[in-house]
Amino acid sequence: MLSASLLSADFAHLERDISLLNQSPIDWFHLDIMDGLFVPNLSYGFPVIEAIAKYAQKPLDAHLMIVDPDRYLERFQNVGTKYLSVHYEACTHLHRTLTHIRKLGMKPGIAINPHTPIETLSDILEETDFILIMSVNPGFSAQKFISHTYNKVARLKEMIRQKGLNCLIEVDGGVNETNAKALTDFGADILVAGNAIFNASNPSAAIEALIAHTVSRCH
Ligand code: DX5
Ligand code: ZN
Repeated sequence: MLSASLLSADFAHLERDISLLNQSPIDWFHLDIMDGLFVPNLSYGFPVIEAIAKYAQKPLDAHLMIVDPDRYLERFQNVGTKYLSVHYEACTHLHRTLTHIRKLGMKPGIAINPHTPIETLSDILEETDFILIMSVNPGFSAQKFISHTYNKVARLKEMIRQKGLNCLIEVDGGVNETNAKALTDFGADILVAGNAIFNASNPSAAIEALIAHTVSRCH
């Protein structure tokens, strides 16, 4: 599956870019929420999220790069978020946070920074619907893909298999036509792409190319 990150969209023409995604074969709308504390950048908040939610015709996949995300879970439920990921590094009581997200009717995900080992998730994997592996340091779009990610995807896939779980693997940051196939070959289920779509000369063609580079697609 392909989740399109709106961080690289043209915010002065947001409706145009949302409509491009609605008419494309992308699967999810990826919303990057940054607080200037957990990551050294601010992105956008609820007025923009609400505007996106109003026009988006595919599931919202919100990625919270914020400290103490528990403060905003209900607000994300209210705008109709389907997939909600919080960072492992930002949650003191991760089990409680994931349980709360599920209780609110959303699908909980755990995002991890490039330096966080997959193995640290061993005792929480059962509680999550997906793991978002950051393949850049979170905070900015258009960064260089960290190639150690392939190894992390493969190790996580094996952990999920050994435990007999259905948890999905999402990879986020620097995804493009050159690494998409290898990532899906190693076991990624969802690829996030922002820069590779919106900064391409033809975004619709870029989406088609990304999809063509993935081996298997599931819905
Ligand atoms: C980075 C964000 C990503 C990012 C997408 O902090 O989580 O979703 O903007 O990456 P690019 O733009 O490299 O596809
Ligand atoms: Zn993201």
